[in-house]
Amino acid sequence: MCGIFGYAGRDNAAERIINGLKRLEYRGYDSWGVAIADLDSEQINLVKHTGKIGEVSSEKLFDTTSTIGIGHTRWATHGGVTDTNAHPHYSTDKSFVLAQNGIVENYQELKSELISKGYEFISQTDTEVIVRLVEEELKTAQDLHEAVRQAFLKLTGRNTIIVLEKKNSHIIAVRNGSPLVIGIGNEEIIIASDTLSFADRTNKVILVENYQMVEYKNGETKLFDVKENAELKTEIIELDQADTKVEKEGFDHFMIKEIVEQRYTINEAVQYTLDELNPLLGRIKEKSSKGGQGKVYTVGAGTAGFAAMQIAFFLRKHANVNATELKAYEMESYKNLFTPEDTLIAVSQSGETADTIEAIEFAKEKGTKIASIVNMLGSTITRISDYKYFSRSGAEICVASTKAFTAQTAWGLLLALSLIGKYEEAKKVVKDLSQNLESFFEGNDFSNIKNLAKKLKDQEHFFVLGKGQNFVASLEGALKIKEITYKHFEGFAAGELKHGVIALIDQGTPVFGIISNDENKADMLSALAEVKARGGFTIGVAKENNELFDFFIETIEGHEADSIANIIPFQLISYFMALQLGNSPDKPRNLAKSVTVK
Ligand code: M6R
Repeated sequence: MCGIFGYAGRDNAAERIINGLKRLEYRGYDSWGVAIADLDSEQINLVKHTGKIGEVSSEKLFDTTSTIGIGHTRWATHGGVTDTNAHPHYSTDKSFVLAQNGIVENYQELKSELISKGYEFISQTDTEVIVRLVEEELKTAQDLHEAVRQAFLKLTGRNTIIVLEKKNSHIIAVRNGSPLVIGIGNEEIIIASDTLSFADRTNKVILVENYQMVEYKNGETKLFDVKENAELKTEIIELDQADTKVEKEGFDHFMIKEIVEQRYTINEAVQYTLDELNPLLGRIKEKSSKGGQGKVYTVGAGTAGFAAMQIAFFLRKHANVNATELKAYEMESYKNLFTPEDTLIAVSQSGETADTIEAIEFAKEKGTKIASIVNMLGSTITRISDYKYFSRSGAEICVASTKAFTAQTAWGLLLALSLIGKYEEAKKVVKDLSQNLESFFEGNDFSNIKNLAKKLKDQEHFFVLGKGQNFVASLEGALKIKEITYKHFEGFAAGELKHGVIALIDQGTPVFGIISNDENKADMLSALAEVKARGGFTIGVAKENNELFDFFIETIEGHEADSIANIIPFQLISYFMALQLGNSPDKPRNLAKSVTVK
């Protein structure tokens, strides 16, 4: 989703900003802009375009070597994808430019007021409303700092803004909702949406909280509480650099690199000692097992929502914990049910998903304790959690989430089994899976999966059936393929088939069945038999072949972690089918990596 990158230091700002925006590309965007303050001429030079930044070079864009500026990648919400709607936006007198991440929910009423005061609008964006509002505030405010502060307090919704003034070597950024961090480099400061964007420059970071304002002016950086207008102390933390690599490392795409990395990332996710797990284990044991009344909820959205479902499944199945999975964007009916006895486990790769943050806020208001399993260090969800765990998968750049899902679910299995005293067993299960994955990927040319992708690429409708431990895999498997093939893939509980879904099965309709050697195997085979009897094309994703399968994909042995192993064939099918179709696996259309708006 949108990305902010402001730079002030010794280097050519345009070069640094373009590099930073490229490192933010993975979040998804449809247009971009860079604004550079030429302090000698006291002018702001602004370049904005739709499309990708690609190989744009700073020299071609600007004939200044100014060392201060801001940049933005836009993922359109209000107003189409046009050069005019791209950010930053000039003020009427061009004395400042402003870019925003988020949505100004009250933009319509603000805009009407501003129009009635004579302001004109050039773009269709909600962001331009903030620009004009700052101009209006400047009429009475003593300086830009105060005008931005006053304007910001009039906005509703989750929005984070960055402002560049043409003089005073001056950048202001204010956070509410959408993430904002400050990188402290060698005689340079970066104000950006995430730490990955400047991980090549520094690992020293100041985390900006909601309603805090960063002001860089003439070489000095200050942090303020926007509501109180009071200066705050800053705390610099050092992040682990190993977590911030963003290279393809010889792979054609980030997606395949990240799929293959799972041979060790799932194991990294369970490298918690019992001492580290005990606070959360103790809380769940005390409040939600052994007669405790507290419920455990798990929550997330998209793939993280499916990981949350799988974690709740593990807690119920292995640890007899009354765990319920919630969708972050469908919380309304649960709002009044949360109690201080409950524990909410939030699952997120980015740690910045607006829906998930809002769900946490609902629960927190009721005194519910928050645990989280997040991949991005320093992210919002981590900061607002009482029990913080990291999935430690390293940067996940591909928009379609792969290694984050398997890491989060592996951590969930560790949690569930540790609750019943099987900590060592859990670690062994995941380690064994990790080794099996190592052998699976070693020298594998994926010819079987490539053949299937080729065979099916012209079909439009596909179904994936799962049951028990593999139900979530059917949903996540289908989502993965939808995201980058743009085909209609639907995951179902196999039990749902004869209650309606079977009406969709026609001659040749591809239906996948995910089958483990467990108590559900017979039901799964019956479901595929029913599909086959109606002319469907059956694809068994299983340990061994069966006469009911028209096509067979052998799965990786996972034992209790079978549901985690079984997602990997679907990740590979989606990747190879996307390539067959000529789609970009890393940057699927319309999607953003980090969904920071509702
Ligand atoms: O950063 P999060 O894990 O909180 O993101 C949640 C979803 O937006 C994310 O999982 C999304 O569904 C991915 N595109 C899935 O591949």
